[in-house]
Amino acid sequence: MNELVVGLDVGTNKICTVVAEVRTDDIFVVGVGIEPSQGMKKGIVSDINSLSRAISASVHKAERMSGYEIERAFVSVAGNHISSVNSRGVTGIPTQRSVSMDDVEKAMEAARAIAIPHGREVLHVVPRSFSLDGQEKVRSPIGMHGFRLEVEAHIITASSTSLANLEQAVESAGVFVDRFILNPLASGEAILTDAERDMGVVVIDIGGGTTDLAIFIDGTVWHTVVIPVSGSHVTNDITHVIRISAEDAESVKLKYGCAIPKKVDSLETFIVQPFGEGYPTEIKRRDLALVIEARVEELFEKVLQEIKRSGYDGLLRAGAVLTGGGSQLDGLKEIAESILQMPVRIGKPERLTGMADSLKSPSFSTSIGLLRMGLMMDSASGQNTQDNPTLNLNLWGMLQGLFRRFIPDDRE
Ligand SMILES: Nc1ncnc2c1ncn2[C@@H]1O[C@H](COP(=O)(O)OP(=O)(O)OP(=O)(O)O)[C@@H](O)[C@H]1O
Ligand SMILES: [Mg+2]
Repeated sequence: MNELVVGLDVGTNKICTVVAEVRTDDIFVVGVGIEPSQGMKKGIVSDINSLSRAISASVHKAERMSGYEIERAFVSVAGNHISSVNSRGVTGIPTQRSVSMDDVEKAMEAARAIAIPHGREVLHVVPRSFSLDGQEKVRSPIGMHGFRLEVEAHIITASSTSLANLEQAVESAGVFVDRFILNPLASGEAILTDAERDMGVVVIDIGGGTTDLAIFIDGTVWHTVVIPVSGSHVTNDITHVIRISAEDAESVKLKYGCAIPKKVDSLETFIVQPFGEGYPTEIKRRDLALVIEARVEELFEKVLQEIKRSGYDGLLRAGAVLTGGGSQLDGLKEIAESILQMPVRIGKPERLTGMADSLKSPSFSTSIGLLRMGLMMDSASGQNTQDNPTLNLNLWGMLQGLFRRFIPDDRE
């Protein structure tokens, strides 16, 4: 039987299960199951039974299409309960010896040993950079000589309760959680180029529940933030202003929505059926655009605030990559460019092989990223990831941020 990797993106709007065979050259998608999500609000479980049913339906679809039984999956996590801190870890290197993988592990462990508040757990520890005997910005210390190895790590934590609820929902659907992976890290893996990651870039994943940011600099993750404004806020605004049902507002947004009023013909109209009125009403497309513009501007002002707060605003030479279903709104890219004052592109999964046509959209960046990161984690640990999550966590971090790109191939 072929080796499999499964990604399960549990979003606020949709659940997407993707099954891929691991082949020598790449992953090959053999099954996809997309279902509307239920029981999730802003990335947090609000109704565990409904969520579990929706997950189950998505998993069964992917099973039917692929012919495989899905036992375990890499699962996305997002939401307001995520937070992150930077931390340093130090370890001494015995004389007459160069830095080994074990030493790097020890430094990472020390960085991880910060006081994590009660009720939170570590999701990822990503090494940002190393220093050796005070020499800063060492990218890959293995094989180098020194006495004191320091690592600067980015530590991402999540609420234990939120993770436990999500885990229960997935496991009630009959799927074991291989590892939780933070949403924008997975999305970044699917859409960024190595050059962008090196030059400095911010991934902005605009979903149905939240907008998730990840800043990549020098090839690795330096900062992550969750902003509680997303595509569903735009839909809610339309519901309130035009007084139509959420369902109608969603389809109006998809059909007539534009974030730049100037781009819309001032005479163009569409017909809706407002609440409490017996007759249909004509709405100007430009008025709809004014409603959308206000919310989208608010979103990117918040994004800018967070980028500035991170202190890395001067380091994003490759600009911003927008992704997630919400990034497809007409005019969004232009607004992002004018508020963020940096180059902006829309990112969607590329280089897909297999039955992947339905996945070539920004809505599925996380799902594909889960597969790619899952594959790296599996090969990094060389074992089942659940057997030793700490080891895997560190190995993944190194592999993800540093080793995969910077260690020469002829290493031991
Ligand atoms: N073509 C489109 N134009 C504009 N908006 C769109 C389009 N397609 C989807 N959206 C919006 O994208 C949002 C859903 O995005 P996505 O599928 O990435 O969410 P999700 O992953 O389920 O949510 P989250 O990651 O926040 O938990 C919805 O608000 C939807 O209205
Ligand atoms: Mg999402």
